[in-house]
Formats: sequence, C-alpha cells, structure tokens
Amino acid sequence: MLTHRGRRPKSLRPLLRGRNGRAGRCPPVREPRRQRGYARKAGTGRRLLTTNDTDHMSSPTTLDTALDLGFTVRRARTSDVPFIQELVEPLVNQRILLGKDSVVLYGAIQEFRIAEDAHGTPIGCGALHVMWQDLAEVRTLAVASGWMHQGVGHALVERLATDARALGLSRLFCLTFEVEFFARHGFESMTEEPIDPAIYAELLRSTDEGVAEFLDLARVKPNTLGNTRMLKLL
Ligand SMILES: CC(C)(COP(=O)(O)OP(=O)(O)OC[C@H]1O[C@@H](n2cnc3c(N)ncnc32)[C@H](O)[C@@H]1OP(=O)(O)O)[C@@H](O)C(=O)NCCC(=O)NCCS
Repeated sequence: MLTHRGRRPKSLRPLLRGRNGRAGRCPPVREPRRQRGYARKAGTGRRLLTTNDTDHMSSPTTLDTALDLGFTVRRARTSDVPFIQELVEPLVNQRILLGKDSVVLYGAIQEFRIAEDAHGTPIGCGALHVMWQDLAEVRTLAVASGWMHQGVGHALVERLATDARALGLSRLFCLTFEVEFFARHGFESMTEEPIDPAIYAELLRSTDEGVAEFLDLARVKPNTLGNTRMLKLL
C-alpha cells in the first residue's frame, strides 16, 4: 500500500475543484440543497430523531440541516474500518490521502466520525488526530463520489472542529489539495512554522507521519508534494 501523497491526477481535478476561488470563513450552517437547485436524493427524506442523533452534529440547527440533506454524522465504530479502507484506497493509490493499515485504523477508530445516509449506509469519514496540547490534524477526510458536493464534507469538518473545541484545542492543521474547500472552513495556508522551538523538539520525537508532515520534515517531502499545509484557529 502506498503511504505517501503526490500530485493529484488531472482527471480528478474537475471533480474536486471548488466552484470559485474565493477563500473565507465557511458559514456555520449550509444552505439546504433544495434551495440551491439540487434535487433530493431518492429515499433520503427527513426521519425521526433518536437520542443517538444528539451526538451527530454540533447544534440543533446543523443537525436539522444535515438530516434535511439526507445524512447524519456519528462516531465511528470498529465495523466501519472496512468502509474506511474501501473509501480511502483509491485516494491513497492516487496519492491524495495517506494510506493506513487496518490495524492503525482500528487503533485510531475513536478519532473518526462517519457520515451515513438515511438508510445507515456510510458515505464519508474524517478523523481528528491530536498532536499537541492546542493542536490537532484533520485527516482521512473523504466522501463517497456519489455524495460529493452535497455538504457531507462540510458536516464532517464542522463536526471535527466541534470535537476539537471540546478537547480544548485551538488550532487545526490539514495537509491537502482541497485548498478552496478548507479555506471556506476558515483554514489558511501556513506561511511559517507556528510553534516554538521547544515544542518543535518534542514533536520531533513522534513517529506519526502526520506530525512529520506538520513539521514539514525533509523525509516526508515526497509525500507532501503539491499539497498545501493549512491551519485554522478555532
Ligand atoms: C474534500 C472532500 C472531502 C469534500 O467533500 P464534499 O462532501 O464534496 O464537500 P461539500 O459538499 O461540503 O463541499 C464541496 C463543494 O460543494 C459545495 N456544496 C456543498 N453543499 C452544497 C449545496 N447544498 N448546494 C450547492 N453546493 C454545495 C460547496 O460549496 C463546496 O464547494 P467548494 O469546494 O468550492 O468549497 C471531497 O472532495 C473528497 O473526498 N476529496 C478527496 C479526499 C481529500 O482530498 N480529502 C482532503 C484531505 S484530508
């Protein structure tokens, strides 16, 4: 399995491209799809809330919006690992995401959130990996191709940001080709190392590839080629 990133193939660029180049803070609640000219997906209508739903989204309004769009976001279960592997595999092969063995995914399952459709079928995933007292990375964010551009990625990033705040974090890192998408969620390109030398030295002790990418170490440069290192202040 490939364990590094590289330039995204040209064939994917139109699919993943933003609608315009404007960067800025993403509004907290996505406008419902039908108001923006999107047809509702068959069989994905509103359903009754259960107690588990309260864990899905950060606010009742966001939860209601996500349900209205036909999906919810929940904590990952170990049974989601095969789905995550299947979703991520082509992106790893295209060097868009960092590959992870199943054993690593099982060990990190508590970091993951899963988006699922109205039938409970997983349609997207994303993880929050804590790196330091105030810092975490959004990683392994992916949405099934049939569900792209319907707000699933937005809901996952918002959920992970809420999780980060609940953990007391104040900075979110990501390494991505999806610069416009993350810019809409308040991420900005990193221009300089945002950590002091003492913490840098501590982070150097980590064996995690994501931490090495955050530090922009020479050994991971081939992995990060063409990607942008971005940071969001929470
Ligand atoms: C990045 C990724 C997760 C985004 O997922 P997504 O579900 O398509 O994201 P969203 O639907 O929330 O937003 C995508 C676009 O659709 C638009 N959109 C979302 N909901 C919409 C709606 N209801 N009506 C109209 N447009 C909408 C958004 O404005 C957004 O445009 P932008 O990219 O210019 O900001 C997805 O493209 C993906 O899986 N990429 C491959 C993996 C990857 O690169 N991951 C990031 C690195 S960790």
